[in-house]
Amino acid sequence: MLNRVISGNIKICGIIGDPLEHTMSPVMHNAAFDEMGVDYLYIPFRVEKEKLGRAIEGMRALNIRGLNVTIPHKVAVIQFLDELDDLAEKIGAVNTIVNDDGVLTGYNTDATGFLQALLKRGIEPKGKNVVILGAGGASRAISFILAERGSNLVILNRTVDKAKELADRISKILQRETEVLKLDRENLAKALSKADILVNATSVGMSPNIDETPVASNLLKSGMIVFDTIYNPIKTRLQTEAEEAGAITISGLDMLVWQGALAFEKWTGLKAPVELMREEVIKRLINNRN
Ligand code: ATR
Repeated sequence: MLNRVISGNIKICGIIGDPLEHTMSPVMHNAAFDEMGVDYLYIPFRVEKEKLGRAIEGMRALNIRGLNVTIPHKVAVIQFLDELDDLAEKIGAVNTIVNDDGVLTGYNTDATGFLQALLKRGIEPKGKNVVILGAGGASRAISFILAERGSNLVILNRTVDKAKELADRISKILQRETEVLKLDRENLAKALSKADILVNATSVGMSPNIDETPVASNLLKSGMIVFDTIYNPIKTRLQTEAEEAGAITISGLDMLVWQGALAFEKWTGLKAPVELMREEVIKRLINNRN
């Protein structure tokens, strides 16, 4: 619960996207600002596609300290920024903007947040065989950071051409080759037989379709690392079945919280209260369900 006085020195952060009904970021960041006792406030701003440029001008005019950027603006926003972090430039997508005295710099903490979620669990993806399902926005950030880190990637997608486009971009920018397959049972079986890590970056299994899973349970192996980028539900069918098979599971909640924590650190210069941020998101997800 936000319960503090708004001073004249307050620094404003927020999120731009459309739609924003389901965003967890305001609750996560405002709780973190409260916990750290800093004079910051985080606000959701619903911005339609055609108004993106004006929204970023508004960020400059209103001296907004930082913004998260979500669907549908992560790629289009780049043209309105002054600087791009090297990784965000390679990925071609931005989810965090920092305003330093009028200079707007774009970052991609979806990618660094994903990596952090792995590293914090003691998993180093360098040299590992990683199977990634999906070729949308989430997959793009994840595939790039893993390719840059030195993982061997196989990307499977329902629309195989989208996966090909992503693999071509990785090849052009990072000079690393990525195998691409259509997402079907046979290809999954083939890819997973050699996989150390499986990442679900599709929306299959997301609420309300919680009975769906992108991978048949008999393809999941003991010791495999299964990272589902979905955080609603907190535990997906894929994760439940992966646990039953003896796999090590990581939740999309970790990626969500770490992308937020890394953005928080860029805006405030402080270490983020990661555990509190996680608890706040869990509380909100449980509340929304009831
Ligand atoms: P995000 O930004 O979360 O990655 P997105 O860009 O819309 O969202 O991507 C959604 C991903 O889930 C895509 O890879 C999509 O596959 P297509 O490229 O073929 O559309 C995948 N996806 C969504 N529903 C799916 C389904 N029922 N079966 C398989 N893949 C699905």
